[in-house]
Amino acid sequence: MARFKTMLAGVTLSATLAAGTAALAAEVNIYSYRQPELIQPLLDAFTKETGIDTNVLFLDKGLVERIQAEGANSPADVILTVDIGRLVEAKDGGVTQPLSNEIVNKDIPAQYRDPEGQWFGLTTRGRVVYASKERVSDTAITYEELADPKWKGKICIRDGQHSYNIGLFASMIAHHGADYTETWLRGFKENLARKPDGNDRSQAKAIMSGECDIALGNTYYVGLMLTNEKEPQEKEWAAAIKILFPNAADRGSHVNISGMALAKNAPNKDSAVKLMEYLSSGKAQQIYAEQVFEYPVLPGAEPSEIVKSFGAIKPDTLSFADIAANRKLASELVDKVGLNDGPSM
Ligand SMILES: [Fe+2]
Repeated sequence: MARFKTMLAGVTLSATLAAGTAALAAEVNIYSYRQPELIQPLLDAFTKETGIDTNVLFLDKGLVERIQAEGANSPADVILTVDIGRLVEAKDGGVTQPLSNEIVNKDIPAQYRDPEGQWFGLTTRGRVVYASKERVSDTAITYEELADPKWKGKICIRDGQHSYNIGLFASMIAHHGADYTETWLRGFKENLARKPDGNDRSQAKAIMSGECDIALGNTYYVGLMLTNEKEPQEKEWAAAIKILFPNAADRGSHVNISGMALAKNAPNKDSAVKLMEYLSSGKAQQIYAEQVFEYPVLPGAEPSEIVKSFGAIKPDTLSFADIAANRKLASELVDKVGLNDGPSM
């Protein structure tokens, strides 16, 4: 039987499926914001273990809108994405359904899943401090200290409204409240070397070039830069920085998640649940984490050697439901303090 393993946005998955029919072998349709090549090793391992075929529809935007438009006939079974913001967007957009499953709930700690079972985290990425190896002698730092005038003119960040920063700022609100966070954001803004700009990798580049001494960035980009054979200059950017895990001595470093959700009208629900059980397992989390330079959510499951070389991460134990609940306020505070305008002088 002809099968498609990977499809690109714009190709009609439903039409292809309709050409099959009910007598098909078990399969599961995955709508993914994650690049197909990143998840394929995992899906191959799943098919080998269960005999269930996987079809991937990769989208770089509009995943929720697409499932909404497909309505009751949507072929989507499982949604794979990164960032708590996108998981919550799927739930709020009404394209997920709750899953209460013993296996999934055993392997995914409660802090990393929706209390209603509408989304589940699989891997985490730390939002850490990139620091100049040359100019920063500090071996420890806290997020709170990023507002300390000692860093005046020395910090670089990407857009304050980017979901990675919003997740972090939402965690600050959850820990300290809105008033503290607003004051903290004002101090942080005054410590910026320039207006927020670029992506996480370009903050490492800015440290290399001397534009700033420290920056906020996600852990996996360091792995991606260190191994980038296509753009080898990125290896130099990564070599110029060290990772400081903020708040390692107290509440732990802010992490964000990549995760999954059961699609609202999953036509292959049994297979979808089997896939979700599989993805939850420590073994699958490790394969996944290894591919993407992230950390498995299951305590004791190991990240890749490169990620281990950054040092151990102690993740903040805040629940993602709490982070999700504070995202909107975090976004409002970013605007209120004018973070994206950069420092006042
Ligand atoms: Fe990213």
